[in-house]
Amino acid sequence: MELVEDTSRPPLEYMKGIPLIKYFAEGLGPLQSFQAWPNDLLISTYPKSGTTWVSEILDLIYQGGDLEKCQRAPIFVRVPFLEFRVPGVPTGAELLEDTPAPRLIKTHLPLALLPPTLLDQKVKVVYIARNAKDVAVSYYHFYRMAKVHPDPGSWDSFLEKFMAGEVSYGSWYQHVQEWWELSHTHPVLYLFYEDIKQNPKREIQKILEFVGRSLPEETVDHIVQHTSFKEMKKNPMTNYTTIPTNVMDHSVSAFMRKGVTGDWKSTFTVAQNERFEADYAAKMAGCDLHFRWELS
Ligand code: A3P
Repeated sequence: MELVEDTSRPPLEYMKGIPLIKYFAEGLGPLQSFQAWPNDLLISTYPKSGTTWVSEILDLIYQGGDLEKCQRAPIFVRVPFLEFRVPGVPTGAELLEDTPAPRLIKTHLPLALLPPTLLDQKVKVVYIARNAKDVAVSYYHFYRMAKVHPDPGSWDSFLEKFMAGEVSYGSWYQHVQEWWELSHTHPVLYLFYEDIKQNPKREIQKILEFVGRSLPEETVDHIVQHTSFKEMKKNPMTNYTTIPTNVMDHSVSAFMRKGVTGDWKSTFTVAQNERFEADYAAKMAGCDLHFRWELS
């Protein structure tokens, strides 16, 4: 992959009031005419919620658990990233044109920016949500290493931006809630990172049922093993190390960073936690979506 322009740290651009990576924002107009197929499957997440993990699980399911077939290309080619657009490389939409059915598609777009065809065609959605505090920490380190984002500044200032929805893809609170609401009327399997971490086999069974497939138990065990954090971290087809370092610099922070739940405790100060929780309670009030971590 070769880049023809300096893509380093452009400011975010606003689309319908939602901040986005500049290059992605620029492509959103043409993307609205994207044509979905009814047998597409959309993997939707707010960034840093386990997208790559579930993408690998789903590609393995689609390939009948064949590890060799999942080595055919990096994850971002096997599961094209709908709104991806960076100068000099194929866009997500271009990759999707070359992808045979049934296609797996990744997106982080909030509903207001999603091409309408995906809902019109009743495309099934696997949505993954993750503890907001862990998302914020993971996103901060991702901003540091992925230079399509603006400079994140200090952790404290980044956390303020996260709470205000002034990060790429906007408000986490709105994202998790609106896709949850959608699940009441649209085929959405709403999963949690923490549940997959706790019992990957159980969650993979849920995915299998949702996509109407079945696999022998030993194949499911194989998938669990192959998609462990340890395995995915060392696999060049899942760990993003094939991306040039001027776009993603793993020496700053690895894409496969820690892969744990509750890492926020090593980063948030007591004061940040108190402020975050009060703000969280206000923003999530009235929503019947509950995260397991809130109980602990
Ligand atoms: P951390 O930065 O907390 O380690 P996304 O794919 O949506 O960008 O999410 C990336 C986050 O998921 C990172 O979190 C990454 O380490 C974690 N992750 C990726 N693969 C994983 C796996 N197999 N098991 C657990 N966590 C994984």
